[in-house]
Amino acid sequence: MYKMRILVTGNGILGKSLMRTVPKGIAVFNSVRLAPKRGEIKIDILNAKEVSKALSSIRPDAIIHTAALTDLEYCEVHKAQAQLTNAFAVKNISRLSGGARLVYISTDSIFDGKRGWYSEKDKTNPINVYSKTKLLGERHADLAIRTNFFGFAEKRLTFPVRMLMSMKAGKCVSAAEDQITTPIYADLLSEAIYKFVLSGKEGVYHFGASKPVSTFSFAKKIARKFSLDSSLVERASLDDIAKTLGLKAKRPKNTSLNPRKASIIAKPPSIRRSLETFKSMLKK
Ligand SMILES: NC(=O)c1ccc[n+]([C@@H]2O[C@H](COP(=O)([O-])OP(=O)(O)OC[C@H]3O[C@@H](n4cnc5c(N)ncnc54)[C@H](OP(=O)(O)O)[C@@H]3O)[C@@H](O)[C@H]2O)c1
Repeated sequence: MYKMRILVTGNGILGKSLMRTVPKGIAVFNSVRLAPKRGEIKIDILNAKEVSKALSSIRPDAIIHTAALTDLEYCEVHKAQAQLTNAFAVKNISRLSGGARLVYISTDSIFDGKRGWYSEKDKTNPINVYSKTKLLGERHADLAIRTNFFGFAEKRLTFPVRMLMSMKAGKCVSAAEDQITTPIYADLLSEAIYKFVLSGKEGVYHFGASKPVSTFSFAKKIARKFSLDSSLVERASLDDIAKTLGLKAKRPKNTSLNPRKASIIAKPPSIRRSLETFKSMLKK
């Protein structure tokens, strides 16, 4: 007999990771937007009928909502679709949840990044479309976990994977020295998310690495962890990178999160621990 039934929406970096780290005694169902494989459920979160049908058949105790439009550049030019997916669909899921607790995965980028080491009491001020829509989505959640994570994606190269590929090929990589975050490896975040769900807590929590790190220093740490030449990591600024890549969405600088409130429920890992776990997963 399972003590809880959970629906995880989305099967991107975090959705997949949540499916890898299911604690014992919990039944977890995963929904995908398109082409469900065996054991998966099809839910396009923009389709209220599909949401309603799936929720009434699964009858979850909790929903961990990871599905979202996460490409900042795409959101910047597809504002209406971003609003529908990241905010309106969350309202719909909450309305149709049948009393299931809605756990929403939010982002550190709901802050403007002028100060950093933000607590849950600090004023939000999102500076791009993605972050604005993510903040709107928080309103409909029972529990919102603001975070910043890294891992593996099927459809794109994530930051550490891209860094590793370039450095292994002996190519230099640019990393912003003025971008500061508290990144956590997705599987460690997933383990913590289940602890949050089981704790029954509600409200807003910040969770990520125990200490802030600049993207430049993070890239150097990745190089060292994988015994690569860390001198291949070149210092850059967010403005340089935005200019070189022609980015439209503004990036906040220091969005590091203070995880003190959350640490009663789960211990925030060091960057070192996240990278060790990430490396051990790459070997598998
Ligand atoms: N990555 C980060 O560092 C970070 C930081 C803070 C917060 N977050 C939040 O954490 C959550 C998970 O992020 P992630 O990096 O795992 O995202 P991801 O890899 O981009 O995956 C997003 C998932 O959402 C699904 N999705 C998009 N539109 C959908 C729709 N209309 N109906 C159903 N599913 C839909 C995508 O399905 P398709 O692939 O089929 O489109 C994909 O499976 C997101 O809510 C994100 O905002 C991420």
